[in-house]
Amino acid sequence: MYDMKALHEAKSVADAVRLLQEYPQAQIIAGGSDVLVQMREGKRAGAELVSIYGLDELRGVTMEEDGTIRIGSLTSFSHITKDPIIQKYLSVLGEAVDMVGGPQIRNIGTIGGNTCNGVTSADSASTLFAWDAVIELTGPEGIRRVPIKEFYIKAGKVDLRPGEIQTGILIPRKAYEGYEGYYIKYAMRNAMDIATLGCSVNVKLSDDKKTFTDVRVAYGVAGPVPMRAVHAEAAGRGLEVTEENIEKIGDTVLEDVTPRDSWRASKAFREHISKLLCKRALREAIRRAGGMISEAGPSGMAPKALDNGDTGTAGKKEERTSVLQSQEASGVSRHTIMTDSESEKQYKLVRCRINGVERETMVDVRASLTDMLRNDYSLTSVKKGCEVGECGVCNVMIDGECYNSCIYLAVWADGKEIRTLEGLMGPDGELSDIQQAFIDEAAVQCGFCTPGVIMSAVEILESGKEYSRDELRKLLSGHLCRCTGYENILNAVEKTMKKRLGKL
Ligand SMILES: Cc1cc2nc3c(=O)[nH]c(=O)nc-3n(C[C@H](O)[C@H](O)[C@H](O)COP(=O)(O)OP(=O)(O)OC[C@H]3O[C@@H](n4cnc5c(N)ncnc54)[C@H](O)[C@@H]3O)c2cc1C
Ligand code: FES
Ligand code: FES
Repeated sequence: MYDMKALHEAKSVADAVRLLQEYPQAQIIAGGSDVLVQMREGKRAGAELVSIYGLDELRGVTMEEDGTIRIGSLTSFSHITKDPIIQKYLSVLGEAVDMVGGPQIRNIGTIGGNTCNGVTSADSASTLFAWDAVIELTGPEGIRRVPIKEFYIKAGKVDLRPGEIQTGILIPRKAYEGYEGYYIKYAMRNAMDIATLGCSVNVKLSDDKKTFTDVRVAYGVAGPVPMRAVHAEAAGRGLEVTEENIEKIGDTVLEDVTPRDSWRASKAFREHISKLLCKRALREAIRRAGGMISEAGPSGMAPKALDNGDTGTAGKKEERTSVLQSQEASGVSRHTIMTDSESEKQYKLVRCRINGVERETMVDVRASLTDMLRNDYSLTSVKKGCEVGECGVCNVMIDGECYNSCIYLAVWADGKEIRTLEGLMGPDGELSDIQQAFIDEAAVQCGFCTPGVIMSAVEILESGKEYSRDELRKLLSGHLCRCTGYENILNAVEKTMKKRLGKL
């Protein structure tokens, strides 16, 4: 159970604004991948929440008449990466958010949450800075639009006024037209790790591709909030596209960045990689923009073949994987999940389909979906491990996507289709092909992680796509196997995928 005082579920944006005014102490919860983890850790203990998770009007990416790209604040990372508008115009943003956590986190985490948490390491933030994004806020006074650099006030603090919610992120046409970009996340691990440093670069080249018309360099973790390297940008504008000038721009970032020492990395190391990542990102952005880097400028040495030398976890473009209500209760508020005065608990009726069967039960609003599935439905394949979204043992499918049920409120399951390992078996208990493959490949040792891994495998297999081994590794990266049988797990998933596709 989460240590939560009350949960108010918004029915519309206007309703969310009203609820925030009615309950001024309440905190907004979108996907909950920060809020629920912090609650579990005691940092938001006893909090009152206004849930905007059900506001589908805030999901999706659209292009407005004037070419402005609008990203609804509740759009999840995985949906941003897969979105055709993002892929066509802002591919670097899709790549950047494809580096967040692991697949289950990318299914639940929203871009609104990633920017409203005010965190410098947020993987979307530096790229949004590099795109000159505008934050749209809706509150009691109406709609307000704030340039992203003004939205961040200080570490963990953004310009959200009482009663306001972020409703969208806007990228004006002039901010992206003619630009190409690249994002590098430098982290200790390829998945489930936040950035030691993130660098996002955009370039606009002249028609003959020989001059930087514009350069934008943005960072995460190079200061208390995401930032632009304005001196480096000014140094680059109008310069010839040469290796010498890339070095110059990269070296100038030291006039802008102000990283600190932390247990992840020292200030000196962050300064060092600030320069390196800028240069590497510039080279790749130039390549994407159709430019050629001249070795020594206009005097005429042969253009240099580009080498993308990332040591971080950046996704190279060619390797890019596009892998990836409320209850009408009488009382305080029609949206408030009512307090049962006798038990001091709060309940809501949750109707959903679980493994193909219509179910309904009263759940405590403080319960996670793991609690509901295990306690109310005895679905013990859904394990409890870290309970903060990191290990994947509680992974289940919700409406066809995988989620760590430990950081998913049980009340959000209302109206959803949920699948667990138990639902994979045939009517007489026959194992599904993927379960059998885990046995055949000895992919199971203690078995604790296995149900969660298999549910991720189901999402992979049901996509009907053929993935490379590296792509499969990334798609399974939201799981920790304490017995470390990763190779056998990969073999089982790969073989089943090939069998289903008639290739084995
Ligand atoms: C295991 C794990 C790994 C992670 N790895 C990464 C990573 O690699 N990179 C990374 O950047 N992040 C990572 N995160 C953090 C998290 O997933 C992201 O910050 C995510 O974007 C938060 O979105 P959410 O919808 O879950 O936000 P929530 O937890 O619901 O909210 C986050 C904050 O934003 C506020 N908020 C949310 N939406 C709005 C809105 N529309 N208007 C106003 N305020 C709002 C909330 O009040 C809260 O303060 C990780 C989290 C976990 C649990
Ligand atoms: S991710 Fe849910 S228990 Fe670890
Ligand atoms: S098989 Fe033991 S934790 Fe994975």
